[in-house]
Amino acid sequence: MQWQWQFSVIKNKKIIRVFVVKKTTTNTRIKNGKTLANKDNKKVIYWLLTGCFLIFVMVVVGGITRLTHSGLSISSYKLISGTIPPLNEAEWIAEFEHYQQFPEYQKLHTHFDLEDFKDIYFWEYIHRVLGRLLGIVFIIPFLYFLFKKQLSKPTIKKSIILLFLGGFQGFLGWYMVKSGLIDRPSVSHYRLAMHLTTAFITFAYTFWVALDLWYPVKKEINFHIRNIIRFGMAILLLQIIWGAFVAGLDAGWIHNFWPLMNDGQLMHETVTTEQVPVWKNFVEGKSGVQFVHRYMAYVVVAIILFIWYETRKVQRTLPQRNGITILLLLVLVQFALGVFTLILQVPVVLGVLHQVTAFFLLAAMTFVLHRFSK
Ligand code: HEM
Repeated sequence: MQWQWQFSVIKNKKIIRVFVVKKTTTNTRIKNGKTLANKDNKKVIYWLLTGCFLIFVMVVVGGITRLTHSGLSISSYKLISGTIPPLNEAEWIAEFEHYQQFPEYQKLHTHFDLEDFKDIYFWEYIHRVLGRLLGIVFIIPFLYFLFKKQLSKPTIKKSIILLFLGGFQGFLGWYMVKSGLIDRPSVSHYRLAMHLTTAFITFAYTFWVALDLWYPVKKEINFHIRNIIRFGMAILLLQIIWGAFVAGLDAGWIHNFWPLMNDGQLMHETVTTEQVPVWKNFVEGKSGVQFVHRYMAYVVVAIILFIWYETRKVQRTLPQRNGITILLLLVLVQFALGVFTLILQVPVVLGVLHQVTAFFLLAAMTFVLHRFSK
């Protein structure tokens, strides 16, 4: 924190006034009344936005990995040596033989030859290499900025939280894969949801920290609107979790109708009968989780419409207005994508697009929440 003293003399009344101007952060300079990020600050912002972009690529590749059933192709975890794929035929055969010891090959892929194996290996390998790259992109510049004293104390704290989230995400990825290596050739949908949600939260937090630096000047907050957006964010996160449940249980392959679930029914009878006790259906039953996801989507749309309606009543800055417009457009696109993903029985392209748009929707919600909170 830096303090700057300014003296001012009011001539006729001979009063001397002293103004104290508090600089918002050590990385900020003020020019012509506008707050600008200085060079160092910009570098930090670019670093964080690069992290956001890489998390986005990671989510896309992760989605393709899941939808092409490639996620269980690498059955061991070696942090350093795992970066090098098999380089010759003998190494490929050894890797394939290792894969043959696990349930995915034994129960689903006995017809696979080496070429089939190489295909599924590809996406999981890219996903893992990207994970390591992300680790490097977060850690090395962080140490560099720390060494160069380019980070303010709050940014150091936030970066440490980010590093922790990134490490935890890597652990969750492996924890999820492990659940598919024991006797069932599919991963636990709870672990898949944790892995996906942590990726989304890590992204949202990284973006938030970048926005903190991008917009360092605090303004007056309308608490009513901020609270509605916070609520919207919470419901959106729940919808993302249930989306992951639908994906993890392959629940997009049933009840492929819209707007009704089946045979003129708003709620198919299997929604409450697949699991005992009844509540379990809504977290573990295919029909139950699909039921929650397809109807919670209306709530998400309604809240975002409400945010749009309420914010129209107050004066908004340009970023606030643009943020809300993009949020509204994205939720409508996301809803339509969800419907087509369901009625066409999850084609890979639509599955990935639906996941990517959920990511952009969260980005827009994070931006809007930030602009109405600080
Ligand atoms: C409007 C808000 C919505 C959000 C934020 C959302 C979000 C998500 C997310 C994050 C996933 C997991 C993607 C993955 O892990 O690959 C997902 C999956 C899915 N969602 Fe949605 N969704 C929304 C609306 C809908 C609607 C309206 C439907 C259909 C009526 C729908 C149908 C599906 C299906 C079938 C899947 C499984 C796709 C797969 O297996 O890859 N979603 N959703």
